[in-house]
Amino acid sequence: MKGLTRRMLLTASLAMIGGKARGQSRSVDIDISGLAVDELMMIERGGARLAVRRLSCSAFLVLDTNCTHLGCPVQAIASAHFAFRCFCHGSQFAPDGAVLRGPAERPLPSYSYHRISRNKIRVLLDRPQ
Ligand code: FES
Repeated sequence: MKGLTRRMLLTASLAMIGGKARGQSRSVDIDISGLAVDELMMIERGGARLAVRRLSCSAFLVLDTNCTHLGCPVQAIASAHFAFRCFCHGSQFAPDGAVLRGPAERPLPSYSYHRISRNKIRVLLDRPQ
C-alpha cells in the first residue's frame, strides 16, 4: 500500500462505483419498460436508492429515497395523504418529494434524466436538485 494515498484510493473507489472515468458524470441506466403511468418503482443502483415514477408516456420523476433528516431509507406508502415515510423518526413526504411532516425539513432531492432508448432512461446522479 506504500505510495497509495487516501485520495488515490477514494478516486479509484468512486470510479468503480459509477463505472466512469474521471471527469465524467456518474449515472445509472434504468429500464422503464414495465412502468405504467402513475406507477412507482423503488430501486437501488449505482450506490443510490431511487424512486422512479412515470408521470406520462414521456415524463418521469426520479427521487433520491434517502431521508433528508438523517439519511434513513424512506419507504413508499400507498396513502391518500403522503407517498413516502421514513420509519426512523416519522418524516412523511408527498409524491413529489415535498415534506409533509418532519423532522425532515428539506424535500427528497430529484435527479435529472434523459431518455436513451424506448425502454431506458439515464439518471444523472451527480446533480440532485
Ligand atoms: S432519518 Fe428520516 S425522519 Fe429521521
